[in-house]
Amino acid sequence: MEIIRTVDGLRKRVAEARANGKSVGLVPTMGALHAGHISLVDRARKENDLVVVSVFVNPTQFNNAEDLATYPRTEEADCAKLSQAGVDIAFIPSVEEVYPEPDTRVFDLGSVAEVMEGAMRPGHFNGVAQIVSKLFAIVEPDRAYFGEKDFQQIAVIRRMVELEGFKLQVVDCPICRESDGLAMSSRNTRLTPEQRQIAPAIHRAMHDSLEFARTHTLAETKAHVVNEINGHPQMEVEYYDIVDPLTMQSLENWNDAVNGSPVGCITVYCGKVRLIDNIKYNLQ
Ligand code: PAF
Repeated sequence: MEIIRTVDGLRKRVAEARANGKSVGLVPTMGALHAGHISLVDRARKENDLVVVSVFVNPTQFNNAEDLATYPRTEEADCAKLSQAGVDIAFIPSVEEVYPEPDTRVFDLGSVAEVMEGAMRPGHFNGVAQIVSKLFAIVEPDRAYFGEKDFQQIAVIRRMVELEGFKLQVVDCPICRESDGLAMSSRNTRLTPEQRQIAPAIHRAMHDSLEFARTHTLAETKAHVVNEINGHPQMEVEYYDIVDPLTMQSLENWNDAVNGSPVGCITVYCGKVRLIDNIKYNLQ
């Protein structure tokens, strides 16, 4: 595996591969890699000749300085995992390389970016659009891979792709879970052993609500999930919203979703660690 730290170096290397007729898959990450990321890499490996993984903790998407400062950085271990997974290129630039000047672009991301994470983390999705659009412009991948744990992020990225006219396929990949159901996340390493033990209650409550939902209204189901989780010490739900899978808009009734099954999206503080997860209500 090659490690490339400059934008020019990456452009040249990808252009070479393209000139040889190779397809290119990109997996954008912020490092602290776990099996969830590797599942994206595996999919990219199957579908492309050249696989590029970016490892970059993007400052413009953090609306909280402490969160940015404490975000786990594990470059050596990340490179070992990527190399083992058969990645061709790890792109690991510095902040100055990516942002030689402040990125002042403001994307018109519309209503998909205004709710849930967009409402709780002002500027977050604009920052995601800035870095992902830069990566797309540098790599010009045929396909780019994102995990469904960040369900709303995928909708926002699709919107940015449409706005910017990128010709590529956004591939969404299923959430990877630990054996006790906790969604894999780089933030899980920040949980204390006690918090790590209770954190699977998030997925358990959502999963159990699939059955509950069959005989209850959407509002009752939301309240049920929130009460279940808040009943645990150290856990506090920030929001639990059940939304249309394309528009991300909040639903009032189960059959209001016009673009597929309703999706429940949750954010929970487990101590100081902010965890997110989601689940599909396939009620047919
Ligand atoms: O999902 C993430 O890890 C980040 O938001 C992404 C897409 C790599 C952009 O920094």
